[in-house]
Amino acid sequence: MASATPTAPAAAPLTQTNVDYDPNIVIETQNLTKVYSDFWGRSKVRALKGLDLEVRKGEVFGLLGPNGSGKSTTIKLLLGLLFPSGGRATIFGKPTTEVSKNERIGYLPEESYLYRFLTAEETLDFYGRLFDMPSSVRRERAAQLIEKVGLKWARRRPLKEYSKGMTRRIGLAQALINDPDLVLLDEPTSGLDPLGTREMKDLILELKEQGKTVVMCSHLLADVQDVCDRIAILYQGELKELGRVDELLEVTNQQQIRVEGLTPDAQAKIAEILATSGGKMLDVSSPKNTLENLFLDIVRESQNRPGARGIIGSGDDNGNR
Ligand SMILES: Nc1ncnc2c1ncn2[C@@H]1O[C@H](COP(=O)(O)OP(=O)(O)O)[C@@H](O)[C@H]1O
Ligand SMILES: [Mg+2]
Repeated sequence: MASATPTAPAAAPLTQTNVDYDPNIVIETQNLTKVYSDFWGRSKVRALKGLDLEVRKGEVFGLLGPNGSGKSTTIKLLLGLLFPSGGRATIFGKPTTEVSKNERIGYLPEESYLYRFLTAEETLDFYGRLFDMPSSVRRERAAQLIEKVGLKWARRRPLKEYSKGMTRRIGLAQALINDPDLVLLDEPTSGLDPLGTREMKDLILELKEQGKTVVMCSHLLADVQDVCDRIAILYQGELKELGRVDELLEVTNQQQIRVEGLTPDAQAKIAEILATSGGKMLDVSSPKNTLENLFLDIVRESQNRPGARGIIGSGDDNGNR
């Protein structure tokens, strides 16, 4: 009997939009792999090992991992700035090597590459030209974005005079010049002080509200926790965890009750009731503010009342506790 050898269907060449393209899946990677070679073409670093991911329309997706875990490599592969050594990736159903997809993408690189002698206005005008925007649209869009990222006061200063935080903000404005549907942000909060970090996080949440899809990578855990719907944790180029942030962080075998005016007597009674159903009171303590919130409260208080020593939460108006 002739044995039918099943021949695998040849993989469709990825030169055009995939016919099975689901518009709710903005990014898809399959077994995406990157090995950097040295000058002689010898494999040197396995930076990304078989990454399988899906990023959905309208979500803020975080790539989290320590330095060198392959986050920037992943973003560059998605942008088509690097070629994969194996596997494949599509954006809006198109292969990442297809240039036309870039019209719908904004990118904030890890390191600034902006021209140091241009002002903020000139910088945005320059990038608007690259997208063939007419001059009136460029002007309007640049003014809007400069205002949005809080740089109106410095819009006519050359970027070489900008601090790291200001450079990050103009970088974000540049990434948004083409009103992209997908924004890729590589360490968006790096170099920003807590106030700048909060503003950057608010801007990211605003992008989400506008229906945009955001992929950001960071090694700063709090930043990712605050803005991301789902995260992928990378370690040494491998995907270690993937899921919704709220679900990953939930301690499912414990519950929490928040109360006001708890007396020792009431606490003892609650412990008794719990014990009757096999429960146990583990911890009674006051909830803690985060250092970030405390800092932001102090800064805002100082802005509202310059000169006063701001004591948040306790003490009188003279700063006495
Ligand atoms: N151009 C390159 N040539 C060789 N190795 C590289 C290059 N870029 C990154 N790497 C290496 O690949 C690994 C992942 O780097 P990267 O993607 O930049 O990590 P992350 O952004 O998570 O810090 C690291 O070990 C890094 O040293
Ligand atoms: Mg990086």
